[in-house]
Amino acid sequence: MQIHTGFSKLNKREKIDILRKYVPLDEEQISLLSTFRGNDRVTNDLIEKLSENCISNYMLPFGIAPNFLVNGKIYFVPMVTEESSVVAATAYAAKFWSDKGGFKARIIGTKKTGQIYFSWAGGIKKLQSDFPILKERLRAATRLLTANMEKRGAGISDITLSNNTLKENDYYTLNVDFETADSMGANLINSCLESMKPELLSFLKDKYPEVSSEAEIIMAILSNYTPDCMVECQVECDISQFSQISGGLSPDQFARKFEKAVIIARENVQRAVTHNKGIFNGIDAVLISTGNDFRAVEACGHAYASKDGRYTSLTDIEILENRFKYTLRIPLSLGTVGGATSVHPLAKLALQIMGNPSAKELMQIVAAAGLASNFAAIRSLI
Ligand code: MEV
Repeated sequence: MQIHTGFSKLNKREKIDILRKYVPLDEEQISLLSTFRGNDRVTNDLIEKLSENCISNYMLPFGIAPNFLVNGKIYFVPMVTEESSVVAATAYAAKFWSDKGGFKARIIGTKKTGQIYFSWAGGIKKLQSDFPILKERLRAATRLLTANMEKRGAGISDITLSNNTLKENDYYTLNVDFETADSMGANLINSCLESMKPELLSFLKDKYPEVSSEAEIIMAILSNYTPDCMVECQVECDISQFSQISGGLSPDQFARKFEKAVIIARENVQRAVTHNKGIFNGIDAVLISTGNDFRAVEACGHAYASKDGRYTSLTDIEILENRFKYTLRIPLSLGTVGGATSVHPLAKLALQIMGNPSAKELMQIVAAAGLASNFAAIRSLI
């Protein structure tokens, strides 16, 4: 079969015509593409601009989990998922906890990091002794980009150097820490790193002309591992209150069995992955509804679940006397402005339904959705 070139340059009709040359598609299938594209030209144009080579739009159910009490405030939480039972289960747990104090969430940190990986033959001693001056030069190189962020109390919070020469000759990493206020920050971080690159190279060249080879930037990119952009969410109740949902078990049996299920997820990687998947059922659905980057959050969450060298559950349980406490700690790097959150009309609406939260508030709501969907899953499993 011949390879087609220039597909991206074609208009939608032409793209579909080319596709039909390669793949047998009948008229009914073609009209499916236009049905899902819809008639609203303005919206369609907006959505198409999010990605490339678009021939239609892909619909998913947009649902609501009502009655989410998070830090004393009731939310109706939008969820977009293709999996049946996720919204119902999450809503079930939200309702159960709503008259028991609800979800108590707190932000532990909001730091994000970008990295410049580079090699240089001048040695770590020189780099370290000049690092304070280099840091100032790098900050100055980004001033125009960070000016707006700084007005909101955000921007670059620190720059540190890691020496990786034990693993690879003359190889170092610049770690640039950011606070990005209500944006997820990927664009800002990557732009700042880009403007630091030439500054780093010229600094080393001018300062150390005697070093025979010039520094080489290997790459510069934000890190999606954000263990310091962290939220904790907790529910707690008296064990006797499980009588409402414990089915054939006594409240005490229910609490003990729930505890065993969580301990299994802490100890057993097969179970831990499925357990955490149940958390992401709730989290991803809210992230998709708001146009947030769920791949970044998932990748980070799973890496964080392995931070001690062994993959384990993201939730923890404590039963003390008659009191049941269930906690989720999860890194969530989210935005409520910028990117798809500000372009996709339904993402904007989803945020509006939640009262246009700040990024921190959204982190807390999303963590509650994750804890709720996991709680409901464990309840039905046991
Ligand atoms: C299914 O999408 C999610 C569950 O498997 C999660 C779990 O087992 O905890 C039910």
